[in-house]
Amino acid sequence: MAKKTIADVDVQGKAVLMRCDFNVPLDDNLVITDDRRITEALPSIESVLKRGGRVILMSHLGRPEGVDPAADAKYSLKPVAARLKELLGVPVHFASDTVGADAEAKVKALKNNEVLLLENVRFNKGEKKGESSYVNILATFGDIYCNDAFGTCHRSEGSMVGVPNAMGNKPKVCGFLVEKEIKFLSDAISNPARPFVAIVGGKKVDDKINVIKNLLSICDTVLIGGAMAFAFSKAQGGQIGKSYLPNPPEASLALAKELLTIGGEKLQLPVDTHCGDAFKGDCNKMIAKAGQIPENFEGFDIGPETQQKYAEIVKAAKTIVWNGPMGVFEMPPFDAGTRAVAEAIVASDATSIIGGGDSASAIQQFGLADQVTHVSTGGGASLEMLEGKKFAAVELLDEK
Ligand code: 3PG
Ligand code: MG
Repeated sequence: MAKKTIADVDVQGKAVLMRCDFNVPLDDNLVITDDRRITEALPSIESVLKRGGRVILMSHLGRPEGVDPAADAKYSLKPVAARLKELLGVPVHFASDTVGADAEAKVKALKNNEVLLLENVRFNKGEKKGESSYVNILATFGDIYCNDAFGTCHRSEGSMVGVPNAMGNKPKVCGFLVEKEIKFLSDAISNPARPFVAIVGGKKVDDKINVIKNLLSICDTVLIGGAMAFAFSKAQGGQIGKSYLPNPPEASLALAKELLTIGGEKLQLPVDTHCGDAFKGDCNKMIAKAGQIPENFEGFDIGPETQQKYAEIVKAAKTIVWNGPMGVFEMPPFDAGTRAVAEAIVASDATSIIGGGDSASAIQQFGLADQVTHVSTGGGASLEMLEGKKFAAVELLDEK
C-alpha cells in the first residue's frame, strides 16, 4: 500500500483540511500533560505552511457526544490551539464551533501561511455517524483533504471517512505521521529482518487475542507478560493464587488454550512471577515459580529469571514489536520486568516498534523513548494495525 502524502500535492495558495488526533491528556487545570500527538503532527502542518498553503485542523478530544461546548471546557480544543501557536510560531486561529457561523467566517478569513483549529468535532451530533448535513459543510472548507490522525484511523466517523468522501475528486492524502506509523506497524512487520520477536503484555488475553494470533503467524517468538500470563498458567493447570483472571474466566481460559496449541514453541510464557500479598509497593513479596503462586499471593510482575530469559531473546532480535507492559509498571518495585524488557530493546540493534498505549507510556516513563525506532501515537489504532486490519479512513486515500 502506497498512499499519496501531503508532500505529493501542490498546496500553494490552497486550503488543506487536515484531520489530526489531538486527543491529548489534560490535567484538572486543563494543562496538556503529554503533547506528543501535537508535536508529531507538526511536520505535516509545517510542510503546508512552508509551501504557501493554509491549514484548517480538525480533531476530537475525549467523547463529548451530546455535550454543550459552553458547559464542559474539558472537551474543548482551546488548549491545543495555544500549544500549536507556541510550537509553530505563526498565527493559529481557533473557531468556537466546527461547522457553525464562527467556523465558516474564520475559514473564509484564513490567509495563506496561517492555521485555523476548529472546535472538537465530537461536539456535533453528525460526527459519529457521518451525517451528510454535517460532513457536507466540512467538505467545503478545504481544497485538499489530509489524514494525519493515526490514533483515530480505526474509526470511521464523519471527519475520518464522511468528509473526504464528500470532497469528491479533490486530492485526499495522508500526513507524515500516518505514513510513518503505517511504515512501522504494517510494512516493517510484513517484511521483517529476523529473528522477529514480539512482546505482548497487558491485562486481558481477550483484548489481544487477534494481535497474538497475527504475530504468531509472522514472528519467530512471542513473549507473554503482564496479567494475561495468568490465564495461560491457569489453562495449563497452574496455581495462580489471587492473581488476576477476567470474570467470568471461562472464555479467557479457552482463548489461552487455543493460543497455546497454535503457538507451540513460538509462544513463551513467564517461568517465574514477582508476587505480593496486597496491591501496594510495600506489601509482603515473594518470587514464585510459574504455576506455583501461593493462595494468599498475587502476581504483579514477571520474575527475575523471566526478565533475564526475555532480555536475552530480545537482545538477539533484529525486529521487535512491543505491546503491553510486563507488570504493574506504575508501582515500583513491580516496574522491574517492564523496565528490563525496555532496556533490552534499547540494547538490541533491532528495528524496535513500540505499539502505543501503556507500552508507550512506560518507555517514556523510563526515559528511553528516543532510543527505540518508533513509538506509536495510537492506542486502539496500533493494536488493530498489528492485527493486520485494514482501515476505511486510510483505504479511501489516493494511491501514489
Ligand atoms: C485514542 O486515544 O485511542 C484515540 O484518540 C481514539 O479515541 P476514541 O477511542 O475515543 O475513538
Ligand atoms: Mg481509546
